[in-house]
Amino acid sequence: MTSQEMALDKRFALAKAIVQEAGAMALDYFNRRESLVIETKRDLQDVVSIADRNVEMLIRERVETMFAEDGFLGEEFGHTTGTSGYTWVVDPIDGTAPFVNGMPNWCVSIAVLHENVPVIGVIGAPCHGELYAAAVGEGAKLNGKMLSLDPSRTIQNAVTGIGANSYVAPEIVADIVSRLLQAGGNFVRNGSGALMLAYVAAGRLVGYYEPYMHAWDCLAGYCLVKEAGGWYHPFPTEDENLTRGAPVIASGPGARSDLEKLAGVA
Ligand code: IPD
Ligand code: CA
Ligand code: CA
Ligand code: CA
Repeated sequence: MTSQEMALDKRFALAKAIVQEAGAMALDYFNRRESLVIETKRDLQDVVSIADRNVEMLIRERVETMFAEDGFLGEEFGHTTGTSGYTWVVDPIDGTAPFVNGMPNWCVSIAVLHENVPVIGVIGAPCHGELYAAAVGEGAKLNGKMLSLDPSRTIQNAVTGIGANSYVAPEIVADIVSRLLQAGGNFVRNGSGALMLAYVAAGRLVGYYEPYMHAWDCLAGYCLVKEAGGWYHPFPTEDENLTRGAPVIASGPGARSDLEKLAGVA
């Protein structure tokens, strides 16, 4: 094993352990969510609580203890650059709206980038007892079982995930939903974009589109989709662009060209 493979392996093992530990902490908050004070950020739909902040703090502490030289970006506490070439990109709770409203569609999402390329993606969905884990060249697994996408699934014979938020005009989402339905497709939105990307990797959804998301929402899912045999649209991951956000588009091989056309990136 080369020293680079060893460096990746150690971070992969840590990412999986942290997602389990952070997931248990988040689940504990979820089970007593009536006592959480719900705050808002940019608007009334952009919610957050101490659960999001404390789960991110835990993840930061665990990474810092083992890899103090790595960069770190989390939704709640921002970006610190590192010196090792590795950067952790973390959404402590993706799907905060379902979380605070008592629905199980939320997850803990951790990506690790090496020289700006997502090389590790780990997503844990504690309410479902599911751990999705991928490392570059090692494939993607759900609870230890290898995932492999079926190229015969298309937007016409499978379901596509669509996401939306108030960063972009609602007409953009309405338009793509309308054109997807006209093309014979079907869609779901479960409130957690990261989890829906994991579902693409698992073949439950054939693709995912959201007009604007941040790195912490999508990079772990992107790594999972790619390692399962799928594809994702390029996303800005250079240190100086990592907090910028961009459209998120990913799918299995059979839906790629249709989804690219629908999203206007073909
Ligand atoms: C949000 C969820 C949602 C997506 C939004 C994200 P958060 O993340 O992934 O499904 O549509 O764009 O911001 O705030 O729950 O971590
Ligand atoms: Ca949020
Ligand atoms: Ca998120
Ligand atoms: Ca979040």
